[in-house]
Parts: sequence; C-alpha cells; structure tokens
Amino acid sequence: MKVLAFGATNSRHSINKQLAHYVAKQIPNADISLLDLNDFEMPIYSEDREKVQGVPAQAIAFYQAIGDADMIVVAFAEHNGSYTAAYKNLFDWASRIDGKVFQHTPMIMLATSPGPGGAQSVLASAQHSAPYFAADVKGTLSLPRFHQHFDPDAGLVTAADFNQRLDAIISTL
Ligand SMILES: Cc1cc2nc3c(=O)[nH]c(=O)nc-3n(C[C@H](O)[C@H](O)[C@H](O)COP(=O)(O)O)c2cc1C
Repeated sequence: MKVLAFGATNSRHSINKQLAHYVAKQIPNADISLLDLNDFEMPIYSEDREKVQGVPAQAIAFYQAIGDADMIVVAFAEHNGSYTAAYKNLFDWASRIDGKVFQHTPMIMLATSPGPGGAQSVLASAQHSAPYFAADVKGTLSLPRFHQHFDPDAGLVTAADFNQRLDAIISTL
C-alpha cells in the first residue's frame, strides 16, 4: 500500500512530521513516501498571481502525490489555533487544480503539539472541512505533550492510549 505521510508544517524538525512517519510505519505493508513541505514552497496564493503565472509546479506535484497514494497520513501543526501558513498556502494553490484536493483517498488525520491541547483546534477544523475536499477520513487522533510521549531515539509514541486508538483505526483499513 502506497502511504503518503507528511506534517502540515515547514519546521525542519517538525514534531508533526515525526508523528506522521511513526503512524505510517504502523500500517501493514506500507510503502511510505514522507513529504517535506519545504519542497513545496511557493509565493503566497493570490488570484492575481494565478491569472499571471497559473498554478506553480509544486502545487501540481503535491496534488499528483495525493492522487498516486493509496493512503494519506497527515499531522497538522497548530499555529494560533489554525493551520500553518505553509500548509494553507500549499492547500490553497492545490485547490485551484481541483477543489476535491484529497481525491477520495483514505486518510488518517493527526495533530500534536508540545502543550496539553495537542493541536486539537486545527485537527477539528481539518476534520470538519474534510468532506468539502473529498477526504475519506478513517480516523483522527491528537497527541498532547509530544515530548513526553515520544521517544525520539526509537521513533516511538509511548502513550498507550494513543497506540490503542491508533490500532483501532488501522484495523478498519
Ligand atoms: C506562530 C506559532 C503559533 C503557535 N500556536 C499554537 C497553538 O495555537 N496551539 C498549540 O498547541 N501550539 C502552538 N504553537 C506551538 C506549536 O505547536 C509548536 O511550535 C509545534 O512544534 C509545531 O509543530 P511542528 O513542529 O510540527 O511544526 C505555535 C507555534 C508558533 C511558532
């Protein structure tokens, strides 16, 4: 199964990218592509720019990567209660190719933060809007206090409740 995993953020050492990678590795027979949003940096979306230059190649590549995947694992970083600017910009550009950005691909939506909230606001936004973008969401999971619950050397989530809920989601795939 081709699994596309990414953190919806441009932090070089993103905790969400680490979480997405961990979750992707738990999926049986996963052939994982781990995206870095820094490879998809573009000018800030504007209708005027789109009229002049069209949709940039990076947005087309992102849209195609989603279409090529059998499964998406995305972990949303939360900036001021919402999406990171890096992800929102990429998503806005991709939505100009096709509003159904997720192309009915099965997805697991995650979010984590260093604090107790676990980036649940942005995760709720993503879950709420998912049907508009043809996302086939198989489950959502937030991991609060990432640094307490993740062993960076082993690359493992150590929170038993998170892992149990993840197993339940994966068993439905
Ligand atoms: C501009 C900014 C705003 C932030 N806002 C929030 C927030 O609203 N909620 C939250 O839980 N963490 C917030 N944080 C902390 C992030 O959760 C933290 O930086 C986390 O590492 C981001 O995920 P990433 O490492 O995957 O990029 C914010 C961080 C920045 C830089």
